[in-house]
Amino acid sequence: MNKPVFPEEIVRDMTEWRRDIHRHPETAFEEERTARIVAGLLESWGIEVHRGLARTGVVGTLKVGSSPRCIGLRADLDALDLEEMTNVPWSSTIRGKMHACGHDGHTAMLLGAARYLAETRRFDGTVRFIFQPAEENVAGGRRMIEDGLFELFPVDAVYGMHNMPGLPVGEFAIRKGPLMAAADFFRLKITGRGGHGAFPHESRDPIVAAAQIVSAWQGIVSRNTDPMKAAVISVTRIHGGETGNVIPEEVELAGTTRSFEPAVQDMIEERMRITAEGIALACGVAAELEYERRYCATINSERETEVAVKTAAALVGRGQVNADTPPVMGAEDFGWMLRERPGAFIFIGNGTEKGGCMIHNPHYDFNDDILPLGAAYWCRLVEGQLGKG
Ligand code: NI
Repeated sequence: MNKPVFPEEIVRDMTEWRRDIHRHPETAFEEERTARIVAGLLESWGIEVHRGLARTGVVGTLKVGSSPRCIGLRADLDALDLEEMTNVPWSSTIRGKMHACGHDGHTAMLLGAARYLAETRRFDGTVRFIFQPAEENVAGGRRMIEDGLFELFPVDAVYGMHNMPGLPVGEFAIRKGPLMAAADFFRLKITGRGGHGAFPHESRDPIVAAAQIVSAWQGIVSRNTDPMKAAVISVTRIHGGETGNVIPEEVELAGTTRSFEPAVQDMIEERMRITAEGIALACGVAAELEYERRYCATINSERETEVAVKTAAALVGRGQVNADTPPVMGAEDFGWMLRERPGAFIFIGNGTEKGGCMIHNPHYDFNDDILPLGAAYWCRLVEGQLGKG
């Protein structure tokens, strides 16, 4: 990119905010400092601010002109429980916590856009700047909706953005329909009767039952799921037993499932339960399944995806925007917002070498080179959708 896409002064500020937030990572629903900085900056530009939605969430409202049209832009505030190993000068100052998903960059880009839009005011309508807490693990976006996000702050459409390592700087990727998966989490408790390892007939062995259940669950993906549709069942934890000659009383399994369609999600939960209970019955043990639907699928609506593609293409050229990127099995709590309102979630390239390290890795760092591009995308989206006349 030769010509600057965003005012240099704001780019300098965004870099500073990003690195400051990076130094002080805060995890789920504890984003007090980050939220204070965000709210203070928005107010300093004359943007109306609501604090404390979903505990640490912040919503800024900027109304210009008289049009009733209204658009929501969303960024996430939270960091991860991870020990940073980047050695950059702005490394985390808090042990065991780091911004390893680039939410520091997402927050800085949306702040940059807010400042630009508040200063230039070249649109007619209302923009909501949604800074949500706790994207990781506990779905703070869902909590915002439960706490009345769209009743308190109505929008016609809502847009989100995430950096993507491995996608070159200056490129965007998106698709209509399912982009990211629904993520469910489960726990299965198998209770048998403990005993001596040499006298299995005197016990009801929960380990043999657990082994059969893990294997049988894999058959749900291969035998019950339409081969043209995608699903994952991963058992990620097995706990049971203490020593070599004792059959334990109890085994616990836990893990995650991924899917894109509600019908597939329903089928997975139902089949997992029936399979576990059936095998437990055959083995003479009891099985109790807890199944939580924590993240719904992130499904982009058609019109808003076209808007996002057009906006990104105007910025970087149509050839740099992949409008049919393959869906991924990762999950995003922006999916909950898209269940309530039409909208689109887009990936912005974080780079290949610099910025190429995968997210959730202790060596990851958000690439500051993309700050102007992300902020410019937001501003063009607003000026395009809330155009004057
Ligand atoms: Ni993330």
